[in-house]
Parts: sequence; C-alpha cells; structure tokens
Amino acid sequence: MSEETSTLGTYTITVLPGDGIGPEVIEQAVRVLHAIGERYQHTFQMHHGLVGIAAIEAEGQAISDATMELCQRSDAVLFGAVGGISGYEGSKTRVRPEEALLRLRKELELFANLRPIRPFKALLNASTIKPEVLEGTDLLVVRELTGGLYFGRPSEIRETPQGREAVDTMFYTEHEIERIIRAAFDLSRNRRRKVTSVDKANILNTSRLWRYVAERVAGDYPDVAVDHLLVDTCSMQLVRRPTAFDVIVTENTFGDILTDEAAMLAGSMGMLPSASLGTRQTAHGLFGMYEPIHGSAPDIAGQGKANPIAAILTVAMMLRYSFGLHQEANVIEAAVEQVIESGYRTEDLKEADKPVVGTQEMGRLIVDALT
Ligand code: IPM
Ligand code: MG
Repeated sequence: MSEETSTLGTYTITVLPGDGIGPEVIEQAVRVLHAIGERYQHTFQMHHGLVGIAAIEAEGQAISDATMELCQRSDAVLFGAVGGISGYEGSKTRVRPEEALLRLRKELELFANLRPIRPFKALLNASTIKPEVLEGTDLLVVRELTGGLYFGRPSEIRETPQGREAVDTMFYTEHEIERIIRAAFDLSRNRRRKVTSVDKANILNTSRLWRYVAERVAGDYPDVAVDHLLVDTCSMQLVRRPTAFDVIVTENTFGDILTDEAAMLAGSMGMLPSASLGTRQTAHGLFGMYEPIHGSAPDIAGQGKANPIAAILTVAMMLRYSFGLHQEANVIEAAVEQVIESGYRTEDLKEADKPVVGTQEMGRLIVDALT
C-alpha cells in the first residue's frame, strides 16, 4: 500500500440520489463506499440531500440553498439522476428538476466533465457495434459543462403577433474555452497524448473561437498530438473507428450528445460514470461531483432492475480524482470487471446464456468481490 492510500482520513460526501432509478443505483454505490471504508479504514461521512422532484415537492425548488451549502462544505458530491417524469417537463411555469443539476454545475464551477469509455472485454458482444471495431477502445471525453447553450441568455419561448418564437444562445468566452482545452491536454499526458478537439467551426462562431484557442493552447503542449474534427464527422468516427481516439474535448451540448453515443461502445448507458471538476481544492484534493451519465430512467424506476455499475464506477472516480485514493479506485474497477467476467448481467446487458441479476444483487456481487 502506498503512503497516500494508507493515510487515515475522514471524507465528507454529500449524497444526492434524486429521481427515478437514482436512489436505487446510489444505494449500491454507497454500499461499495462503506465496504471500501471498512477495508482501508477510511471514514466516509455521508450527508443525504434532496434534489429534483423530491426537492420540488418538499421545498418548492429543484435544489434548496441549504442543500447547495451542504455541497459547498463537503469534499465531494455523489449525484444520482434527476428529472424525466412527465408533468415536470416542458412547462415554463413549473420548476424543472433538471435545474438542480445545472445549478450545481454552475455554482460549484464544475466546468470539466470527464467521461471515460473503456468497454470491458467480456462485454464486447453486448454492444450493438461489432466486437472487432470495439476491441482496444479506451477514450476519454472531456465535456465543457458550465457554458454554451445550457447557460447562454437569452433563452426563452416568446409570443409575437406572428405566433410563438424561441431562442437559445450559444455563448463562450475565450477564458472558458482555454481552461477546458488545457484540462484536456493535461489529462492526455497521463494517457496516450492525443487530443481531438471537436467543434462546428464551418458554421458556428463559438466554434471558430474554440478552434483558434485549441490551436494556440496546443502550442504549449508540443509532446501531445492534436487534431480537430467537426462534430458530425466525430459522431460518425466514434462508431466507425473508436480506437482512433484518446482524449476528445468539446463544448457542452456536443459533449452531451457524443457521450450518449459513446456509451453504446461500452454496451449500455448503465456502464458509464462521470466526474465533474473545477479548481477548488479541499483538504483531500480536488472538489468534484460524481454522477452516472444515464438519466433517471423513469420507465424502469422502482423495479429493482437498473444497472448500478455506472454509479459504482462513479465512486471509483471520486476516490481517484477527489481523494487521491488510487488503489481503492482500482480495486472497485477490478471488482466490477470480475463480476462481469463471471457472467453476471443486469437487464440492460442481457445476453442469451448469462444470468440476469437485479440492482441489489449486482451491488452485492461487487461488494463481495471487493472483500
Ligand atoms: C447528462 C444529462 C444532463 C445534461 C441532463 C439530465 C440535464 O443528459 O448529464 O448528460 O444534458 O447534461
Ligand atoms: Mg446527457
């Protein structure tokens, strides 16, 4: 055990399970955290908070100021999912559950969203894409998370004498672009030193500035190979030759879309964790928020069949990026891989000859593989 990982420590985590399958998968992630805490003698002090529909019903807001403060004071946030229940969508007057997520990202200044995609060997056949295309895929999407269409103003639907009209605004400052591009280059130095910057510079001004900044920043990283792809081309290349990518860096909306596509390389959305990072340091390292990339999946909520693996791998990312507990993170990832290799599958990964287990059972198998 290294110096770093043998340090006794207390880590404060705000847990926000949210809506739909959020609470089910987060319960399993918390179980894994407890198991790691016991095995390595760390204290993970967890405080639960309300977000999304539960918060709207109890507090009238998608996330309250008190819960925001709880997050600010903790070393990391573990987030499940919000939204997706009809009745809370699309209405202008109602508070939308997704506002919780956007407020957290914005106010905690979590501008860098890391979404690693490394399909497990045993799952190459679970994907809709041919195994020979997938084999060797190991990429990291670095998605800008606090700018672009998600936050630009104006953003509204308005009435005019000619009928309704709507507007959203894609806005980026040079500073916002530069810090995410630098984050991607820095991360690539621990990988294969290749950065693909993705934009729509043939059409969008935000993308022209993006490409200009990416080229300028690349000059500071002569050891890293860089190329530029248009987002439509990138979406095609992702399923054509995913092994060609190492680090992909892109703006908020493009990153949202490309990572759902890339999730299918790993067999299911239920497999992909993410880390949202800024620059704030805590006593243990970099503050971050950790969430599975899948949403609340209301269609299967409460049925005990959601895949908890994304949430569990999210905990591994938390240990690695916010607490510097690299060995513990590796142990979780190895336990997940071992359970998958033993043949166990959740509904979303169903294969003809493999046993299908529920959310809790999958969590238990992974905890057993840890200990
Ligand atoms: C994601 C999700 C969110 C996003 C939604 C729930 C607001 O799709 O994290 O990818 O669009 O960022
Ligand atoms: Mg998304």
